[in-house]
Amino acid sequence: VSLDVVILAAGQGTRMKSRLPKVLHPLGGRPMVLYSVEMAAAVSQRPPVLVIGHGADGVREAVGDAARYVVQAEQLGTGHAVLQARDLLRGGSTHIIVFYADMPLLQASTLRALYEAQQTHDGPFSMLTVVADQPRGFGRIVRDGQGSVRAIVEESHATSEHLAIREVNPGIYCFDAAWLWDHLEAIPLNQKGEYYLTDLVEIAVRAGERVRAQVMDDPVEALGINTRVHLAEAEAALRARINEALMLSGVTILDPATTYVEATVTVGQDTTILPNTHIRGKTVIGQGCTIGPNTIIEDCTIGDECDILASVLEGATLEGHVDIGPFGHLRKGATLERGVHMGNFGEVKNSRLRAGVKMGHFSYIGDADIGEESNIGAGTITANFDGQHKHKTVIGKNVFVGSDTMLVAPLTLGDGARTAAGSVVTHDVPPDTLVVGVPARPRPSEPASSEKG
Ligand code: UD1
Ligand code: CA
Repeated sequence: VSLDVVILAAGQGTRMKSRLPKVLHPLGGRPMVLYSVEMAAAVSQRPPVLVIGHGADGVREAVGDAARYVVQAEQLGTGHAVLQARDLLRGGSTHIIVFYADMPLLQASTLRALYEAQQTHDGPFSMLTVVADQPRGFGRIVRDGQGSVRAIVEESHATSEHLAIREVNPGIYCFDAAWLWDHLEAIPLNQKGEYYLTDLVEIAVRAGERVRAQVMDDPVEALGINTRVHLAEAEAALRARINEALMLSGVTILDPATTYVEATVTVGQDTTILPNTHIRGKTVIGQGCTIGPNTIIEDCTIGDECDILASVLEGATLEGHVDIGPFGHLRKGATLERGVHMGNFGEVKNSRLRAGVKMGHFSYIGDADIGEESNIGAGTITANFDGQHKHKTVIGKNVFVGSDTMLVAPLTLGDGARTAAGSVVTHDVPPDTLVVGVPARPRPSEPASSEKG
């Protein structure tokens, strides 16, 4: 036995009322279509065949080499869409799974179980069904007195008797390949000018064949997306799934309903995530951290025992025991080594703050390297941009930068240097030297007696 997967993604998604094709709408921060492609890759070694049409270029761009493509030039229905894959797949695999790209919460294990079920079934195909209180516009499953499936009736064609049926079609099928390729053309064109894949049920039943229909355990997997209301529901379900996995792995989440973690993120044990926190992209967070409330973190690497309060971090690296906030902003290339403290209203971009640096209040540090245990006074600014070029500021170890210092780059402050409050530093400062004023100049060292006052 062998398996190919066909994913239908050619429709426009009219009910989304969008210029963007439905399958490119983001879910959990990624285009919806990627979920189905990954699901398919988990059950079959061959890349799935994606049937594309509306927004084909965008879909190809989003999916890349992960799929093979066939184009359905005119969207004449789901049966017609599968037909487009026939030339590519006929004579190949013994089994074909077909599902729709608008069902991103489906799990690979469910597809695998369906494939296994069809291998022991003597009819031409097996399908999944959902029993749901809300039919969401899905086709209704019509069974006979013996419980055998007779037909799938689309909502637009349904009688009031059909509409009362609570068992519906999520659109996930596993076919005997030869039967599928032989019977697709038997699907009639309906009054709406479409060929419905679902008509294969009646075609099989009329030929005396049995269709196996298995009720899904978890109806959440079948959340199909037709409107933006469904999109929000799927987003909430995906979020709940991710948060649940995190909590079961040892992360405390105070309020899962307001915690937004993308599937690509990893979080270490005994870290606590507080409400209204968004963690995205390739972020890795260590153990024992407290993140939030009101925090956004994207593409960051954060070590153990860090506290991030009400801050925004993008493309930054934090070693262990760093604390930030409230209202800190780390931008691309900010590296905060072990034990750095960054208080309120600080911004750091493309800079390294070495171990133990303290930057308490209201500072901008850009394109700088700050040595161990140095102190950045309130209101310190690296003037790194002269209108045309960015320049670097290098600050040594144990430097004391006084409040409201302007560091006009390019600039180097030696180890142990000090700047007085309000100084504008335009020239390099030698080690262990105090500079004062505008522009800042070294203050002559005074005899020890006068310092006693
Ligand atoms: C379809 C099913 C319905 C099921 C529901 C589950 C049919 C006739 N109906 O209805 O029984 O309950 O899905 O979500 O199959 N597509 C194409 N080419 C086309 C038409 C559609 O590729 O010509 C793709 C769409 O991009 C989409 C999928 O097929 O990914 C389903 O199309 P959609 O229009 O959403 O079908 P439903 O009306 O929801
Ligand atoms: Ca649909």
